[in-house]
Amino acid sequence: MNNMTPSEAVFHRTTYATQMAQQLLQPSPLHMNVRSGVFLSGIRRVGKTTFLCQDLVPALQAQGALVIYVDLWADRSKSPATLVLDAVRAALQELRAPGAGLLQRFKGLNLGAAGLSLGFQIENLGLAQGATLAQAFVELVDKAKTHVVLIVDEVQQALGTEDGTGLLHALKAARDAVNTQPNTPGYFLFLGTGSHKSLLTNMATRRAQPFSGALTTAYEVLGQDFVQWQLDRIASTPGVVLPGLVVAWAGFQAMGHRPEELLKALVQLQSTAVPPDQAFPIICDTLASVSADVELRAIEEFGPLGQALFERIAQGSEDGVSGLFGEEALAAYAARTGAAVQPPQVQNLADKMIAANLIARPGHGVYTVADPFVRKVWLERNRLL
Ligand SMILES: Nc1ncnc2c1ncn2[C@@H]1O[C@H](COP(=O)(O)OP(=O)(O)O)[C@@H](O)[C@H]1O
Ligand SMILES: [Mg+2]
Repeated sequence: MNNMTPSEAVFHRTTYATQMAQQLLQPSPLHMNVRSGVFLSGIRRVGKTTFLCQDLVPALQAQGALVIYVDLWADRSKSPATLVLDAVRAALQELRAPGAGLLQRFKGLNLGAAGLSLGFQIENLGLAQGATLAQAFVELVDKAKTHVVLIVDEVQQALGTEDGTGLLHALKAARDAVNTQPNTPGYFLFLGTGSHKSLLTNMATRRAQPFSGALTTAYEVLGQDFVQWQLDRIASTPGVVLPGLVVAWAGFQAMGHRPEELLKALVQLQSTAVPPDQAFPIICDTLASVSADVELRAIEEFGPLGQALFERIAQGSEDGVSGLFGEEALAAYAARTGAAVQPPQVQNLADKMIAANLIARPGHGVYTVADPFVRKVWLERNRLL
């Protein structure tokens, strides 16, 4: 469609962001447990990352906090610990030699033009001979005299590897070191977000998890005001056909509150002859089903054994399935594929499917479907067949 190329504009959620920032930085006596950590979950492509970067980070900064944001999916070739350490090092470098923008933002703080002087080598942070994250955050809070918020997007990625577990323990140690200081000038707030609700819940509740006792909360999906905003943006396009708000909102919900899908549906609406309020619901239902197909096709590409493996994981508990390489499992794969199956073949495929982000390994020998939405679609289709 010609005039409907999506622009980069963002629908801002200032109220939601301000409230969340306030709850993190100035918790009421009843909500002090945010200082243990907060886990925010919501399915994929509903605007979590956009909200964090476009609205929450600025809201936290406006309330005087120092914010460090890391996305564990940003670079799959780097381990979670490397990504977090890189982000913390970059933030510290910036504070040591602050540019004009940073000084402007922290005008109220005694961050001189010379920057913050730190008593440790930033380059060695987190390394065997260097300062620990706990030492770094204690010093940072003491010197900057403000709250430090660390946001880790797709935090479940830190599960199941030694590197990731080590990272979570180091962050918990940092939290405890800062937050238990008497008269601390600021707190360390940890916000983990991700697409896998049940894994995030485990991180906040399982006793063995470093952040056990943290708060879990659900990401608030975009509402009718977002749909209205999207319709308004397009309305000025000459000759454009639009559904009514109620119909558009229903369609947005049917497509899982996904902004990209809404835009696609509106584009498709332009090429139908049927009245928009009649055509739009059909377009949305079709798109919802097409997007499910795309996800399912990715599984098919792993062949019969990949599908049998995925089936076993999807049909098990949402928290995770083990015994994928045991005799019983191997016999089941063999029955499905019509050929004998050896553990290394399964291991190899499992690794490839993890790399493709179809499945995840949240614990040693434990596997889950990476995206609960895909699992749900897969189970529904399977029931129909
Ligand atoms: N507030 C918003 N305004 C406009 N577009 C948005 C908004 N939130 C999300 N989107 C769009 O929706 C898509 C998915 O958003 P993203 O933040 O990546 O989702 P998630 O992190 O939940 O997977 C992106 O293309 C993004 O531009
Ligand atoms: Mg995201």
